[in-house]
Amino acid sequence: MAQPSTRRPVREDKFSFGLWTVGWRAVDPFGDATRPTLDAVEAVHRLADLGAWGITFHDDDLIPFGTGETERDRQIARFRAALDETGLVVPMATTNLFGHPVFKDGGLTNNDRGIRRFALRKVMRNMDLAAELGASTYVLWGGREGSETDAAKDVGAALDRYREGIDTLAQYVLDQGYNLRLALEPKPNEPRGDIFLPTIGHALAFISTLEHHDMVGVNPEVGHEQMAGLNFVHGIGQALWQRKLFHIDLNGQRGPRYDQDLIFGHGDLLSAFFLVDLLEHGGYEGPRHFDYKPLRTEDIDGVWASAEANMRSYLVLRERARTFRADPKVQEALAYSGVPELSVPTLSPGEKPADLKADRAAFEDFDADAAAARGYGFAALSQLALDHLIDAPR
Ligand code: GCO
Ligand code: MN
Ligand code: MN
Repeated sequence: MAQPSTRRPVREDKFSFGLWTVGWRAVDPFGDATRPTLDAVEAVHRLADLGAWGITFHDDDLIPFGTGETERDRQIARFRAALDETGLVVPMATTNLFGHPVFKDGGLTNNDRGIRRFALRKVMRNMDLAAELGASTYVLWGGREGSETDAAKDVGAALDRYREGIDTLAQYVLDQGYNLRLALEPKPNEPRGDIFLPTIGHALAFISTLEHHDMVGVNPEVGHEQMAGLNFVHGIGQALWQRKLFHIDLNGQRGPRYDQDLIFGHGDLLSAFFLVDLLEHGGYEGPRHFDYKPLRTEDIDGVWASAEANMRSYLVLRERARTFRADPKVQEALAYSGVPELSVPTLSPGEKPADLKADRAAFEDFDADAAAARGYGFAALSQLALDHLIDAPR
């Protein structure tokens, strides 16, 4: 049977990959690299061939730390030529503030002021390149911003410095006239024992305190919320509701444990289904960015198979979400469950608290026992979702 064309990735799907994902050489805390270095130019060509739309990078992925100016310019020129040749875009860029030993106590929240200033300059330098390459989002993942012992940090001071750092970078973007928005990426732990801004909720609360809060949103990653035992779909729902979902990192995770960075859909599949349903029907128009690690067991063919698998998972789930939404039985079940009714405001237009207080039907005459007797039909609704997910609709 011919494969439905909607399962073949096209540019309009806005699939993007970090250079550090397909380029991961699989060094882990217990073992050496299992794959050779992947040339960025090769990555651009292969991703374009697979139907991806964009590629993203940390400064050091493209130009190793400490590279001289001339060599840096040469690397950028080669990368640029590959982008021009393939039409692949750079929607986002980010900074490595975690690899070099200088960042062992963090970048923007390092106890050492000189290192904080160095970190800011490192970000600014790569923001220049991001803007030059046409990126519209700049991600800040503070993997080393945190501690292993509570004696090590004055948390309030660390958040003051974090805020100062983000506001300084936002001001830099404004001063330079760049078309960049900043996206903070939460993570509960790893590599630090505890990372500042551990969840979407912490990040959203922090952003509301910024001078340039309008320019700053979040880049949540599936696995990071799931490492904390949280519901990723609810987190994304709130980020969308606050108009702060600037970017997203899609991958897979199996419950609270180390950061697995599995292929999208290869972790909690039901959650991935509801996530795609939300992204597709909830008004998210940004990149579908994969931040995963090809398994350490794979050779380079396995790397490209895994890149393809991420996109296929998304497209198949999108197809299943569409049939779910279009099924009249689902619409009926949603109505039975009262899901559309939640969109009806609790007070009537113009109704004041005093009017509610005067409404005997709302309280004095309200039959709580009768209202309690209803069933919500969530079990049937949930099973309909599962049936669609596994392509076994009734
Ligand atoms: C992780 C993180 C990183 C960041 C990336 C952007 O898996 O711990 O997701 O991969 O997303 O480094 O700075
Ligand atoms: Mn991760
Ligand atoms: Mn990520």
